[in-house]
Amino acid sequence: MLGKNSDGEVFLSSSDAPLVGLVKEVVYLEDGEYGWAKNQEITLLKNLIPQHLDFKPLTQDKLSAQKDGFRYFMEKEIYEQSLVVGETLMGRIKDNSVVLDELSTLDISHINAIKICACGTSYHAALCASYMFERLAKMQCTVEVASEFRYKEPLLDKQTLFIVISQSGETADTLEALKMAKNGGMLTLAICNVDNSTIVRTADMTILTRAGIEKGVASTKAFATQIITLWLLSLFVGEQKKVIDAAVLHNEIAALLRIPLALKVHEPTHEKIRRLSKRYLHGHGFFFIGRDLFYPLALEGALKLKEISYLHAEGYPAGEMKHGPIALADSELFTIALMPKTLLYDKMKSNVEELSARDSTLLVISPEVFELADDFIKTNAHNHPMGEFFEMMLITQLLALEISVRLGNDVDMPRNLAKSVTVE
Ligand code: AGP
Repeated sequence: MLGKNSDGEVFLSSSDAPLVGLVKEVVYLEDGEYGWAKNQEITLLKNLIPQHLDFKPLTQDKLSAQKDGFRYFMEKEIYEQSLVVGETLMGRIKDNSVVLDELSTLDISHINAIKICACGTSYHAALCASYMFERLAKMQCTVEVASEFRYKEPLLDKQTLFIVISQSGETADTLEALKMAKNGGMLTLAICNVDNSTIVRTADMTILTRAGIEKGVASTKAFATQIITLWLLSLFVGEQKKVIDAAVLHNEIAALLRIPLALKVHEPTHEKIRRLSKRYLHGHGFFFIGRDLFYPLALEGALKLKEISYLHAEGYPAGEMKHGPIALADSELFTIALMPKTLLYDKMKSNVEELSARDSTLLVISPEVFELADDFIKTNAHNHPMGEFFEMMLITQLLALEISVRLGNDVDMPRNLAKSVTVE
C-alpha cells in the first residue's frame, strides 16, 4: 500500500500498521500495479495504463500505536487481551445464540468439511479450531501449513469450506493458498485482523478478529482473538447444522463470556514469572507439552519463546514424549507442562512423571499443586477447559517476554523476523 501526508511525503508499506500516525489515507495496490513517486507526485500504472489513485481512509487509531507506559508493545498487547476479546465478542452473541452477520450468505447445507490453511501463530490457532469444529460442530476439519498446501497438488473439494487465518492479511503463502482454493471453486472464508488487507479483499467472506493494531512481531492478542472467533464459528456451524445440544451451547456461551475475565493479568503472577525467568536463561532446550487443545497451545508457547529469546524450544503433544523426544530429557532440559484440571489431567500427570523420572527440570502450570515440579505456577480453577487455556496462554506469553527481557533482546523487533511475511 502507499500513503501520502499533508507535507507531500510518500510512504510505501506492506501493511497498515507502520503507516498509522504518518498518513490518514492509503491506496491499496493490486497485483500487477507498479509506478513511482517523484517530486511529491505518485504515478501508478498497470499494463502501461495509468491508474486512478483510489485513496481510502486508514482506519487504525494512532493511540493504539503507542506503548501507554508499558516497556514493550508486546507487553501492552498481552495486557490488552481481556479488552480486545470483549471486542471480538461484541454483538456476536444474542439470545443464547451465535450471530455472525458476516456469514449471512453462507449456505451451510452444502458444506460437509472444513480445511484451514495458515502460518505460524495463525496455524496454531487453526490447530485449536480443528478440535473445536469436530467436537462442537461435528464437522471434519483438517489443517495445513499454507506453504506446504501450495505445492502438494491438493485436491480441492467444493463441499469443503476453505478457511484462511491471518493477523496481517498479507502473508504470501496464506494468500496464495487462498487464491488456489478460490480458483478451484471452493467457498473461502478469511479470519483476519486487518480490514482491507489483501486476504480480506480476496476471500468470499471475512470475519474480522478485532484485536486492534498489533505492533509486536511476536503475536499475542491476535492469537487470542483468533481463538475466540474460531470458537464462535464452531458454535455457529454447530447451530446451523443443528448438531449442537441446547445445554452444550448454553454452557459454551457462558464459558465464552467469562474469557475476558480469565484474560486479566494478575500482577502477582506476572511478578512471579518475572522472578522465575532468571532460572530459564540457559539449558539446551525447552519442551512445551500439552494434550488436546493444550497441544497447539504448547506449540504456540514454544514459538513465542524461540521468537524473542532465541533459545531452542519445541512444543509436543505430551503423549508423544516416549516416542523419541524424551531421549533429550536431563536436568538441562526445561519442560513447561500445561496441566489443566478440566481436560485429561491424569494422562498429563503420568507423562510429566516420566519426564521427572529422567530429571528434566519441570515448570508446571496448573491449578493443582504438583509435587514433582521444580517450579510451579498456580492457575485459577475453571469449570471449562477454555478458561484454563486462556490463563495458561497468558502465562506462556509473559514467560517468553520476561526471559527475552533478561537476555537483553529486542522484544518487539526480534532478529531475522518481520511482522508481515509478504515473501514466500
Ligand atoms: C507470530 O508470533 C509470528 N510472528 C508469525 O508466526 C506469524 O504468526 C505468521 O507469520 C503468520 O502471520 P499472519 O497471521 O499475519 O498471517
